[in-house]
Parts: sequence; C-alpha cells; structure tokens
Amino acid sequence: MKGLILSGGAGTRLRPITHTAAKQLVPVANKPVLFYGLEAMRAAGITEVGIVVGDTRPEIEEAVGDGSRFGLSVTYLPQEAPLGLAHAVLISESFLGAEPFVMYLGDNLLKEGIGRFVETFRQSAPDALILLQKVADPRSYGIAELNEEGCLARLVEKPAEPRSDLALVGVYLFTRAIFTSVKAITPSARGELEITDAIQHMVDRGLRVEPHVVTGWWKDTGKLEDMLEANRLVLSTIERDVQGDVPETTIEGPVVIGSGSRVERCTVRGPVVIGDGCRISDSFIGPYTSISDGVVVDHAELEHSIVLENSRISHLGARMTDSLVGRDCVIAHNDARPVAYRFLVGDSSQIGIL
Ligand code: G1P
Repeated sequence: MKGLILSGGAGTRLRPITHTAAKQLVPVANKPVLFYGLEAMRAAGITEVGIVVGDTRPEIEEAVGDGSRFGLSVTYLPQEAPLGLAHAVLISESFLGAEPFVMYLGDNLLKEGIGRFVETFRQSAPDALILLQKVADPRSYGIAELNEEGCLARLVEKPAEPRSDLALVGVYLFTRAIFTSVKAITPSARGELEITDAIQHMVDRGLRVEPHVVTGWWKDTGKLEDMLEANRLVLSTIERDVQGDVPETTIEGPVVIGSGSRVERCTVRGPVVIGDGCRISDSFIGPYTSISDGVVVDHAELEHSIVLENSRISHLGARMTDSLVGRDCVIAHNDARPVAYRFLVGDSSQIGIL
C-alpha cells in the first residue's frame, strides 16, 4: 500500500501566516503538522509516499527532503494549481499505479494514527474506506449521511443545510476504483474537483464504501482556533524534558525546554514547549503555549498561544492569550511620544487591543 499526502493549497484561512509559509509547515507543539502525517504513515507500515505539492513546493521539499529521516521514500508530485483533492488524486495516478493507497490531507491531525484503519482496509477489502467524526459546524466539512443500518447513504461537500453532523476526516483509503470516479466528476461551485463527489460517485456505481467513526480526537488545522486546539491536544501528551538553563525559574507541570535556551526569573506552567536557543526572562509562560526556536520574551505573560521562530515579545501591558504569532515578528512596548499604538501589520492580520 502506498501513501499520498496532500500538501498544496493556498491556506487562505490561516493568513497572514500562509502568505509566507505553507500551512502544512505551521508547527503544532513545535513540530510541523505535516510531520505528524508522515510519522503516521510510517507507523502504519507504509514506506512509499507521494506528496502532492503546489506553489510552496520548495519549502515542503526543504523540510521533508527525500523522506529518509522519517523512514520513508518520498516522491514529489506537482499540482499546477489547487484544483481540488480529487484533482490531486488524478495527477498522482502514475505514481500510485494499481496499488491501494491511503490519502492523507497534510493539515490534518489524528490522535490514533492510521494503523487501525489500514488494517481494517486490508481485512475487509472494500473499494474505499472513509473516516467520520461528529463536528459542531457541519457546514465547514464534507458530510456523510448514514442509513438506519449504518451504511453510507450520501456524501455532500460543505452543505448549506446539513442533514447530519458526521464530517469526513481528511484520511481516505482507496483502491484504484477511485480513478474512474475522479475522472467522471465535474468541478464544484468553488471550482474544485471534490474528493467528496468522487466518493459519492463510487457509491452511485454500487461500489462498497465503508464508513468508520473515529473515536480519538481529530483536527483539521486550517483555521486559527483549530490550530490552537490541536496545539492544546498535542501538548496534553508531553512529558517534562528540560535541556536549557533555568536559573531562578519555577517550572510547574509538563514542560519541554530545548537546548541552548535560557529561561530566567520566570514561571513556566505546563504544558508548555519551548524550542532551542530561546531567551526568556522575567515572564510568565502559561499552559498550552508553544514557543519555537530563537524566540525572545521578556517582561511578558503568554498563555494558550503559538509563537514561531525568532519573534520577540517584550514588556506587554497585558497577558497575551489565544494568539498565533508568525516568524520574525516583534510585539513590544515602546516609550516614544506621542503615546500611541504603532503597527506594521501584514495583509489579513488580526489584532485585538485593550
Ligand atoms: C477538505 C474536504 C472535506 C473534509 C476536510 C477534512 O476540506 O473537502 O470534505 O471534511 O477537508 O479536513 P477543505 O480543507 O478543502 O475545506
């Protein structure tokens, strides 16, 4: 069985972060989301993986390389434009060949991994296996309607009036029967070839599409709130590992501090992960915070936030919470007159002030 990871797309819902970086490389607990998918493939015994890439190919390729450090052999499959998930399958046909495959959306995180589903697929040998989970906002997902026997009745992509709250998780297992369907469907209202429509097409052809409800948590990290929630879920599983120096610092609960980092005169209340080479002083770092490498924090209070590489946060007048700060950002108090806010803010940024 081969793996297909989708890592193209524009990431519009995570702008401005995705103006400059691929959404699949935004870190959750200091590890790019995409890496969780690659690791899940390996853990399920899959070693040959194709990654569908778009405009952000150079950075994806730089981060993943030939896949060997994940125990994988990776082939890059360029998609000329983000024309949909079914289009990604279409362009991958010669890589995938006749083998069944697992398709994994590179911005999805699945606690239990995919091993169990790969095993079920092998044993029950359906034409496709889909994963479902109940969601609070069914209009944002592909939605499955099941009949009384628990069999798949209908699939609809982002229905305006959902008839079920069972969303399609971004992990799908297919036989080569999917290729006929991705070739038969036409673009949706958003101009994409939808995988949801292709699976519906398989159902219409009388093929066996087996639904499985996922019990562990699942997150599509496409939006800020989901990103913060995924961060929270992953941080809930970490264990204490303090490498850096922590003079006069109180550490409570599970906290990871990377090498070359110095955390002084602080309180760090886990779960928290701090990367390598950070300088943190006279601050409070509260629960569910991930701080990437090279970040500087002084005289500030942070919690339930993600701060990316080499940013600096200093002398804040209030606690920073529920935030995602990109790379090389500066958020700092300044004494210049007149007393005023001074911003250099990128496109699609959001700032909440007191
Ligand atoms: C895609 C699929 C949708 C699925 C979701 C899971 O949505 O189209 O059916 O429920 O991934 O993450 P998109 O992220 O393209 O909006």
